[in-house]
This record gives sequence, structure tokens and C-alpha cells, in this order.
Amino acid sequence: LKRIAVMTSGGDSPGMNAAIRAVVRYGIKQGLEVYGIKRGYAGLLDEDIEEMTFASVGGIMEKGGTILRSSRCPEFVRKETRAEAAKILKKHGIEGLVVIGGEGSLHGAMFLEEEQKIPVVGIPGTIDNDIAMTDMSVGVDTCLNTVVDAIQKLKDTATSHERAFIIEVMGRHSGYIATVSGLVTGAEAIIIPEVPVNYEELGNKLLQERERGKINCIVVVAEGAASAYTVARHLEHRIGYETRITILGHIQRGGSPTAFDRLLASRMGVAAVDALMNGESYVMTALQGGKIVTVKLDEVLKEKKRLDMDLVKLAGLLS
Ligand code: F6P
Repeated sequence: LKRIAVMTSGGDSPGMNAAIRAVVRYGIKQGLEVYGIKRGYAGLLDEDIEEMTFASVGGIMEKGGTILRSSRCPEFVRKETRAEAAKILKKHGIEGLVVIGGEGSLHGAMFLEEEQKIPVVGIPGTIDNDIAMTDMSVGVDTCLNTVVDAIQKLKDTATSHERAFIIEVMGRHSGYIATVSGLVTGAEAIIIPEVPVNYEELGNKLLQERERGKINCIVVVAEGAASAYTVARHLEHRIGYETRITILGHIQRGGSPTAFDRLLASRMGVAAVDALMNGESYVMTALQGGKIVTVKLDEVLKEKKRLDMDLVKLAGLLS
């Protein structure tokens, strides 16, 4: 193995830069040439590829976003497009590819190896924590801290004005971000796609709490369950609070990564290079019980990560 490449793809997540840095620096230390592919699969198709150096990844660990930039590339669902991409990789002498991204990006990587025989290793990078077989993906922890900080601020003003806030968080089809952020901020209600909501019952419960003297009400809703507007429509006239809506949006994807994400990304970056050097590909790096392991890409992608229902129970128990 002489030359490998690294790219970030799909929705960015904090910590991607630490993963790039680890792949580049460890790769170079192992005697490899490491190339960076810009803007994910779209940049690959445009041959936006350049050699990375030890210095080119200096000072990036603490930066949010991704220095390689990212994109969503819907064309990559087509086999012909992937064949084109493989041709470009071969033309550039790239013998192994590290793809840092979420579910769609990892699917692209899996097909690149299955159909085009390009050795690939995935690193799970997404704020959603919806990738199976890994306890955490790169970016989840930072996102949670951002969301918790925002909810805490909203709680301050909710209390001053005795209001209810309906706060919509990201997560695509997963209720993970909503569940954990709601749990650790003591939200009065958490609405997630995994658990059906009965607005009448919820409204009555919140009203009772209001009548018992509660002075604020935080409802966290996962975007995959409902929009904050829908939730407000169902609840605002029932619960005895004046209601405000906040959609946190892409603020959840930015910011300097936490120590946890920097460490996870660094460990996974090194593990990805090790895998390629050992002739192991068609895998994703994963965190399982504190250890970094590799898991088969097809196994990761054939199952949906299920939300840990103990977390949901815990949130209910303590709120
Ligand atoms: O997968 C990350 C994510 O931020 C989801 O939580 C969200 O649904 C989606 O990406 C938003 O995508 P975009 O940035 O393309 O609008």
C-alpha cells in the first residue's frame, strides 16, 4: 500500500477535522502518501484531490466543520457514477479510501468496494447517532453539548416569563439527540419518532403541572417526530402557558469539538489507517464498550441503530 485518500461527506459534524488530522499524520508516519478529496463524492467526481502534508493538518483539531469541505451527492446512487469515481481514484493511484460521514456516505463507500473493488474504510461522522454497531459517532457529543447549552438558555427566559418553549432538534429519523438533551436538561416532555405521542394526555399532564405551580415548561421535539409548529398547535391552548417556538437548526452541526469527539475521531482515524495497512477493508471503525473495533460495512448498514429505550425510560422517570 502506497497511497490512500481521505474525504468527508454528507452533513458535517464536529470532530471531522480531528479524524482527517489523524488519518493524514498517522498515514504519513506509516510511510504512506495521503491525499485529501475535497467536497466529498462531488469533489471526487470533479477530481478535486490534493496531497496532504503533516503541516496541512496543523491547527485543525479544534476547528468545527471540515477543512476538506463536504457535500451531499445524490448522483452517487447511480452505479455508473460510482464507476466513474473508481476510475478517477485508480487514475490517481489511490489504493485505499477513508470516508468520514453518515449513513448515505457509508453506503456510497460500501458500493465503491462491492462493485468497483476500491478498498474502503468508513469512520462514522454524524450528529444524529443513528449509525448501528457503534456506541457513538464523531460529532454527537459536541452536538449534545450545543443543544444542552441552548436549552439551558431558553429555560432561563422561559422561567422569567413563565412560558412554555417547544424546541425542535435535529436527528433525522432518530430521537437520540432529543432524548439525551431533554433528559439532561430536565425537560417536561420529549417527543421522538420512536414513541407515539398522545397530545391530549400530554397536554393534560403539562396543564396539571402548571396548576400545581410549575413556572416553565420545556418540550423537546425531534425533527423526525413532528415540527415544533405542529407540536405548538396541539399544545398551546391546552397547557396554560404562553408558548414560544425555537428551531435550533444547523447551529447543532457547528462549533469546536469537545474533548470526547477529538479523542474518538483521533482513535478512529488511526484505526482506519491500520485497517487499510493490514489489508482489512469494507469495514467501519466503531466504538464498542470503550474499545475501537472494526465492523463489516454491510452489517452496519443493513440494520437501523435502535434508540436505547432505557434512556427514554430514564428521562420519563426523572422528569
Ligand atoms: O444528518 C445530519 C443532519 O444534520 C440531520 O440531523 C438533518 O436532518 C440533516 O442533516 C440536515 O441536512 P442538510 O444540512 O442537508 O439540510
